[in-house]
Amino acid sequence: MSLPSLVLRSATPDDRVCIGAAIDAACGCPEACLIVQRLSGTPSAMTDRVFRFPEWCIVASYRGRAIGHISCWQDEMLGLIGSHVVLKAYRGFGVGAGLLEEMIRRARAEGLRLLEAVLRTPLTRACRLYERRRFHETALESDDGWIRYECRLDGPT
Ligand SMILES: CC(C)(COP(=O)(O)OP(=O)(O)OC[C@H]1O[C@@H](n2cnc3c(N)ncnc32)[C@H](O)[C@@H]1OP(=O)(O)O)[C@@H](O)C(=O)NCCC(=O)NCCS
Repeated sequence: MSLPSLVLRSATPDDRVCIGAAIDAACGCPEACLIVQRLSGTPSAMTDRVFRFPEWCIVASYRGRAIGHISCWQDEMLGLIGSHVVLKAYRGFGVGAGLLEEMIRRARAEGLRLLEAVLRTPLTRACRLYERRRFHETALESDDGWIRYECRLDGPT
């Protein structure tokens, strides 16, 4: 099932409040909260970091409302997925997958060689989403629940 008239676009400063609220809400899930802590410390620090590079944040807009986003932090030829959140009411419609596919497309177009993501078990749905979009598990960091994924962008599509 998909949402008709869903638009994927770059973030603008006007999205900051919505994106900050979505990151806050995602922290209701302990595993997502640990990802935020690991990457940025706090939800508001993560939002600040997203808006330092808004061109690397893609927003899913439905009927004029920002219902999801994905962000990435570029380090030379590498992109690290920062946050990837869809509002609860809109999950299961392919929005999260569409955002990830668009990020892969843009990263490739910008000449990045690799996209990375760190996830935690038991975020089974998120892990499956990444695995089905050409991300491979590269490291299971001991037994503490962290999984590092990467997607090579310099090979065939
Ligand atoms: C992870 C997340 C972004 C996925 O967004 P979404 O819009 O629900 O994702 P999609 O609808 O594209 O579905 C993704 C996959 O989950 C499956 N799925 C959807 N609804 C499901 C459900 N209720 N139960 C199980 N699987 C489901 C889909 O079939 C799809 O599988 P596929 O890749 O094999 O086709 C969303 O769940 C979320 O915001 N989670 C909280 C934050 C988080 O954990 N982010 C990831 C780490 S940063």
